[in-house]
Parts: sequence; structure tokens; C-alpha cells
Amino acid sequence: MSNIGSYETRLRDFTWKMAEEELGYGKDGKYNLGYFCSDRICEIGNGTKVALVWEGFTGEVRRYTYDDLRIYSNSFATLLRQNGLLPGDRICVFMDRIPELYISFLGILKMGGIVQPLFSAFGEDALAMRLEDAKTKAILTTRKHLGKVRRIRSSLPELSLVIVVDAGEKPLEQGEIAFSMEKAVKNEHIQIATVGPETPSVLHYTSGTTGRPKGALHVHSSVIAQAITTKWVLDVRPDDIYWCTADPGWVTGTSYGIIGAWASGITQVVLDAGFSAHKWYAFIEKHRVTVWYSAPTAIRLLMKEGLDPVNKHDLSSLRHLASVGEPLNAEAVLWSEKAYGKPFHDSYWQTETGSIVISNYPGMKIKPGSMGKPFPGITAAILNPKTFEPINTVGTVGLIGLKPGWPSMFRMYWNNKETYDKKFQNGWYICGDRSSIDSEGYFWFVGRDDDVINTAGHLVGPFEIESALLEHPAVAESAAVGKPDPINMEVVKAFIALKPGFAKSEDLSMEIMNYIRKRLSPLAMPQEIEFVDSLPKTRSGKIMRRLLRAKEWGEEIGDISTLEND
Ligand code: WT7
Repeated sequence: MSNIGSYETRLRDFTWKMAEEELGYGKDGKYNLGYFCSDRICEIGNGTKVALVWEGFTGEVRRYTYDDLRIYSNSFATLLRQNGLLPGDRICVFMDRIPELYISFLGILKMGGIVQPLFSAFGEDALAMRLEDAKTKAILTTRKHLGKVRRIRSSLPELSLVIVVDAGEKPLEQGEIAFSMEKAVKNEHIQIATVGPETPSVLHYTSGTTGRPKGALHVHSSVIAQAITTKWVLDVRPDDIYWCTADPGWVTGTSYGIIGAWASGITQVVLDAGFSAHKWYAFIEKHRVTVWYSAPTAIRLLMKEGLDPVNKHDLSSLRHLASVGEPLNAEAVLWSEKAYGKPFHDSYWQTETGSIVISNYPGMKIKPGSMGKPFPGITAAILNPKTFEPINTVGTVGLIGLKPGWPSMFRMYWNNKETYDKKFQNGWYICGDRSSIDSEGYFWFVGRDDDVINTAGHLVGPFEIESALLEHPAVAESAAVGKPDPINMEVVKAFIALKPGFAKSEDLSMEIMNYIRKRLSPLAMPQEIEFVDSLPKTRSGKIMRRLLRAKEWGEEIGDISTLEND
């Protein structure tokens, strides 16, 4: 029997208050998310249970108990306090998937700071933009990424402290301090910052079509939703070995790679190594992974490798599989049934929703290709794109709208009320995706309602790429769009008009690609560049990305007169 039991019964009976009580959230005045992921588990008698099994790219394995999480996160909280950081300060974690990343995340919350996780593969421009927007006070990083931080530091007057968690003996520069989690003085007890359910906790940056990336701000009570969805959707139980393959630079890696897992008191495993089918299967086999939360691109990569590597490993420990981030195609679900004897369960949500809002539940009939049904406690509908009224006809495509008010929903875009307000229409939160509902209430994803590119489950904003391209000396005009890709769903393609005096060439194309990879990230790097004489524009001069995109997808664009007048 799955944790959720009967979906219909839960749908009828569930209230968020029940989830709050089940977690004990707010009992004895305790609201701190960091506390719920470490100290609380120790208080209920599980301090010696393994919380994290970490494996590095060399194969080295380290284990941390809940007591370790508690004590080491205390050390981080103390360090930050001793260096003058205050509750509400934005503190960035910028590291590969090392234990310090996961544990400092809790430490920041325990001293009342707002954690700003950033993907360690971000280049200096992507990093600078987000640190500047959040007016970040401190950043925790490693030697490997320190160079990028140093190069942008002079442009970030608010950034007063850089903490290097693997500094060793080598000297650092002014304003940088070395900190070793394992060698630091152990603090059995600290004063955990007093927060309320609405105190800001995590600030995740996400990309939109226009403008700079937006910081979605979450609050401490988000843990109520993250814990109950971990239990009911991911079906996690006390003895599970849980593996979430996402990087905490993105929301899946924090909501379910830190918070949901540890608030549930289970053992989770982390692999800090690149992808290979053999490596992943060996990891599942070695650690006896039971619950696996991954992404369609990874599943497609595994499919590509075929059944041969599957048969070479014992994957019989796997009990429940789930996926998120991009459409999970029906073939991937059917293949996983064949390969692992279990289907992947699709789940849908966003940085802004903070937790899973639509999903296929254990025990419920899966319709391959469908995202499933709303989580109990979430009211979801398909809305008319003009009136924002619910469409009640089966199969009609419209916008996904959610009734605001669940605990893990974002509370604002940092410093950007205008964009935040636009996300709400007619009493609904507008996700920005298109879908339909079938006669049994299953949601079928159709596509995004904007120009944001979803590559390998990561959103990339065309504006950010175009702005960076314009800084290259050869580029006069540019447009970035998503083009279809069999593995990553979409990859970035850039259309570029060159400045006079520059000629198109393979070399120039490569140079521009690398320029974007270095300044933004490998995800934002165009996989293809097409040099054009000019770009299609509206009468007011806006580049018609949709036209370029439609061509890549072989779609009919129809009457473009409306576009021209945009
Ligand atoms: C966007 C959110 C929170 C998950 C990680 C990404 C797309 C997400 C699905 C799915 C089709 C999906 C949507 C959504 N997306 N899950 N199951 N099927 N599309 O978080 O970076 O905020 O991206 O990812 O377009 O709006 P994110």
C-alpha cells in the first residue's frame, strides 16, 4: 500500500492544516526550516540515522548522520554570525554537490539568513547578475569556483564576505576567509533563529522571457508542502534510500534534494559526478537506492544506452520512480517499465510553486504522456488565455492556473513586484504553461506560453543570452530560441546578424559559443549559430522570436500581421 492510499479519499479530506500537524510545524513555537531538517529528527530519536551518503567523482564515499547535520549546520550558522551576518541577509551557496553545500544550506536557515543557491556551472556574468539583484552579502564557495567570484567582486559592493570551504593552507585574498566544516569547533547547541511561518527562507533565481532572471522568494513554512509531497508523491518511507538526481542550484535539488528528504528523516544519497549509464546504475546497485527522482533528459540518455547496461546491474532495490522538469514522453514511461519493471511517474511544478502541484501518484493508473492530477490541496484549472476563466470542456488547450494559497508558493519576485503581480489574473496564479484536461481529470502538457527555452529540464532565458551575445564585438543583433533536440528536448539556437567588418565562419561561430558558455553557462551555450543578414522584427522593432522558433519546429506560423504589430 502506498503512503497516499486512495487519491480520491485524500482529495476529499485533505487540508494543509493536517499536513502542518503531521509535521508538528509550529509546535512549541518551532518554525525554522533548518531545524525541521536536522535538530527535529534528532529530537525524535533518529540522531544516529544516516542522513546523507555522499559519493564523489573519484568514488570516495562519506556518510553523515542527522547528528552530523545538526552539529555541522550549527558550525556554519555560528561562523556566519561571528562574521556579522544578520537574519534576512542573502547568503549564496555556490559549490558543486559536496556535503558542505547541503549542510551550509541548513546552517544559513538556522541563523535566519536567506539562502540563495546558484548553479556552480554558472559563468561570471550569470553569477554577477544574480548576486547584484539580490544584493547578496556573503557567498560560500570552493577553490574551483573562486576565480569567477574574484573576477566580479569589484562590481559587487554589497558582497562583504567570501567563505572558501576547502581553502586548505594556501593563502586567500582580503575579504575571503577559509572554513573547514570538518575541522571547525563543534557546537552542540546554538540559538536557532526565531522565525515565523512567513519569514523568507530560500531565494531561487529563474528565467523569464524578458528582463533579467527573477528571484522567487520562499518562506520557512514551505516545508509543510515539501514534506507531505515527498511522502505522498515520492512515496518515501522511513527505511528508504532516496536519490534525487537534481543539483541544488535548481529548485528540485533544494525542495526535494534537501528539504523534503531531510524533513522526512530518511537517508538520501548524492552522486557528485557527471552522467554515465554505467555510473548511475552502479550507484543504484551499490547504495541499494529504493526511490529515484530524476528528469526526462536523463531517462532519454539511459534509453539511448539500451538494456545492455541495465542487465549488467542489480537494480532490484528500486521501488518507486518519478520524474520532473520537462515533458516525460510516453515512450520513456513504457521503456522504464520494460527496463526496470517500474514506470516513471511524471510530476509537474515550478520554481515558483516550490513543491509538486500536479502528478501521477503511486497506486493510481498512469496514462503515459500525461502529467497526472492535482495534488490534494491544490486547485488547478485550464484557463481561457484571454478571460482567465476556467475552461470546462474536455481536451481544450488553455493556460494552467492554480488557486493561490499553498505553503510552498513563492511570496514575491525579489525587488520586482510588477512582474510578480502580472502572474496573477482573475484570482488565479498563471504558471505560464499550456495544457488540456481529459475526461478523467488528467492533465496533458502542451507547451510553454512564452519564449523561455527548456533545455534538459533547465529554463534558460533568451534575453540573458541575447544580452550576452550583444557584448561580443562581432554581434550586431541576435535572437535566441529553442530548437528541438532528441535528448535535451530543446537546445539553444542563436540567430546572429554581424557588425560590418565581420564575416561569418566556423571559427567565429565556435568562438561565440564558447564566449556564452564561459560567461553564462554550458546550458545557455548555443548548440547552433545561424548567421543572417537581419532578423524579423515587429513594426515597433521587437525581434519576432516566435517566428524563428516556429521555423525550427516546422510549425505553421499563419498570419503574422498580429506579430508585426506587437
Ligand atoms: C517549468 C518550470 C520544478 C521542476 C524543475 C523545473 C516545465 C516542469 C514539467 C512536466 C512538462 C514541465 C514547465 C514549468 N516543466 N515539469 N512534468 N512536464 N513540463 O523548475 O526551472 O521553474 O521550470 O518546467 O514549463 O513551467 P523550473
